[in-house]
Amino acid sequence: MHSLHKKTLVLSALLTAIAASAPLALAEDMPLYRDPKQPVEARVEDLLSRLSLQEKIGLLHADSKFTTAAIPHLGIPRRWMSDGPHGVREDVGPDDWLPSGHTDDFSTCFPTLIGVAATWNPEDAKAMGTVIGQEARKRGKDIMLGPGVNIQRTPLNGRSFEYMGEDPWLSGRIAVGYIEGVQSQNVASCVKHFAANNQETDRNSINVEMDDRTLHEIYLPAFKAAVQEGHVLCVMGAYNKFRGVHASENDLLLNKILKQDWGFTGMVISDWNAAHNTKECVENGLDLEMGTEKKAYNDYYLADPYLEGIQSGKFAPALLDDKVRRNLRVMITTHVLDQRPPGSLNTIEHQDAARKVAEDGMVLLKNDNAALPLDISKIKSIAVIGENANRKQVHAGESSAIKAFYEIPPLDGIIARASGKIDITFSPGYRDKAGKTEAADLMDRAVAAASKADVAIIVGGLNHIEGFDSEGEDRKSIDLPFGQDELIRRVAAANPRTIVVLVSGSPVAMSGWLDKVPAVVEAWYPGMESGNAIAHLLFGDINPSGKLPCTFPKKYDDTPTGAAHSAESYPGKNGTVTYSEGLLVGYRWFDTKNIEPLFPFGHGLSYTTFTYNNLKVTPADSGKNIPASIDCDLTNSGPRQGAEVVQVYIHPDHPSVMRPEKELKGFSKIALLPGETKTVHIPLDPNAFSFYDPAQSAWVAEKGNYTLLVGSSSRDIRLHADLTLNKTTTEK
Ligand code: BGC
Repeated sequence: MHSLHKKTLVLSALLTAIAASAPLALAEDMPLYRDPKQPVEARVEDLLSRLSLQEKIGLLHADSKFTTAAIPHLGIPRRWMSDGPHGVREDVGPDDWLPSGHTDDFSTCFPTLIGVAATWNPEDAKAMGTVIGQEARKRGKDIMLGPGVNIQRTPLNGRSFEYMGEDPWLSGRIAVGYIEGVQSQNVASCVKHFAANNQETDRNSINVEMDDRTLHEIYLPAFKAAVQEGHVLCVMGAYNKFRGVHASENDLLLNKILKQDWGFTGMVISDWNAAHNTKECVENGLDLEMGTEKKAYNDYYLADPYLEGIQSGKFAPALLDDKVRRNLRVMITTHVLDQRPPGSLNTIEHQDAARKVAEDGMVLLKNDNAALPLDISKIKSIAVIGENANRKQVHAGESSAIKAFYEIPPLDGIIARASGKIDITFSPGYRDKAGKTEAADLMDRAVAAASKADVAIIVGGLNHIEGFDSEGEDRKSIDLPFGQDELIRRVAAANPRTIVVLVSGSPVAMSGWLDKVPAVVEAWYPGMESGNAIAHLLFGDINPSGKLPCTFPKKYDDTPTGAAHSAESYPGKNGTVTYSEGLLVGYRWFDTKNIEPLFPFGHGLSYTTFTYNNLKVTPADSGKNIPASIDCDLTNSGPRQGAEVVQVYIHPDHPSVMRPEKELKGFSKIALLPGETKTVHIPLDPNAFSFYDPAQSAWVAEKGNYTLLVGSSSRDIRLHADLTLNKTTTEK
């Protein structure tokens, strides 16, 4: 063979071999932590071993309002966080809270979480979480700061609208659905605010005192469900103190309960400016410090002061590695270092999901003589009244405010649904800052409009101005503001077909008018599809199926914090608030103390009716972690398709310790066609019969008799059954 030809052949064989081995060589060079096929923990350890001390510290604190620093040579990008619970928040300046003015920071806006809880449907929460996760991806966010699961201890809490009401079991179910949705999109969810953050008054400094049973039975279960069932990757520590120590650096809450007892392996993020002390942050369980008001990010407690503490031997390197591991674990689990699907924004599916959740959560509180739905063919004119009818709400409320793609206020939704068929007028009736003469004039004009129309629809309630449903301040009273009680009374006197639609995120009193109007709807803050959802309910395109996630009291003094009449109980005295009502929060209080609420927990009417039959209780299923389950037949006995939430409460007949009169331990939302019957199967909460025994640090299900109460609300029990536990069981 010609030697040149031979050489060419050899060269080409060599090149082929190099080409064939190229991917192999690359794979061999690829550090283990970059390989998505490797187990998460192996990737975490590998990456940890490559970080310098300075780089480790850099992962534990902010480098702008919502980011942590990148480590480019290792391929670690800047991590982006964003509020919030009901949409991806607009971008703010890197070092301040001012809107960035970006034009690509819009998002779909869902109802606030109280309205999501009112769906009593974890699938709705999951659908919402999935959309939020997709939009977070598209907007380049890695961690979404929600959901908020703080229990509504007092109806005055300014952030009630951002939370899921008064019941731990309901809050836990909704939170788990939501977290599963967000995290299905490779975005971490951050449940907040851990823990006992139940008021805005003095929120940065207030010290919360409560007994152990109350902590474990009321204020922790939703967080525990988020961790153990939702596998939430992040937990945000709260602003307040708990038993004398700030919650974001609290050994009992973070190290002992969250990490040790519950086995939480993700990371604890401080609330923004909730860290106060390097030693406490280091030793008491904080893994990422955000929002501290310091001149430079290196001055953060977990920045240079921590670095110096490590270098001087004051702090152990092992604890540092634990914090870094937790940060890396979240990053690697959500594929921050890998290729992720890009996500999507404002698709038709997202808009539909936002509307469906809004519709599913609205609660028909009252509907005498089938005043609703309105028959569009029989009405000639409607007077729409109330500032909330044309007020846009979603770009307010502080950290949870959303710059939505659009927002359809109630008036626009009603017009879109009925114009051309019905003559619609609008008069505000009140204005939040109206002077006296103006207020009187607005009211007179609204009353005059109502008197001329076939139907009056008042859209009132609250708004996100500070002092109502807003972060940073509690409400002063549960009364409707801006003279609305008088407005509704006068409009109802002028037009007996007056429908009241309340837009609010917390309970309101209905003084002097409830018996004068035939129908009342609680719409919550329904998000950007508000107007469409409300119009669909009013005109019967959908059948309401929401149920109250919180008791509506007749008056503030009927509530636990109101009845106490003491600053110690609320909002605190000498810097401490004591939860003297203990376990008796919400309906647990009203039912145990025999106080008639305005509308009870779990209440919500439908345009159809449901009948309950054949309750069967199956005791412990030892194979599964279920202490009992119930079956019953539910029939749609009315004329329309609809959905009912079957609720299961337990009542211990002769407990050896104080137990609330009844407690929600299971529920299921069932859709039925007219005349249809389904057998509903509801497994009960694993701790359904247990109370928390502080002496043993354990859950105790006492032997004895229990009554299972199955019904349509906490005060509309349709079926009862007895169940006996033959032996006492204790579980850590
Ligand atoms: C709020 C958090 C929020 C954070 C970041 C704080 O004021 O309490 O809920 O996630 O700000 O905006």
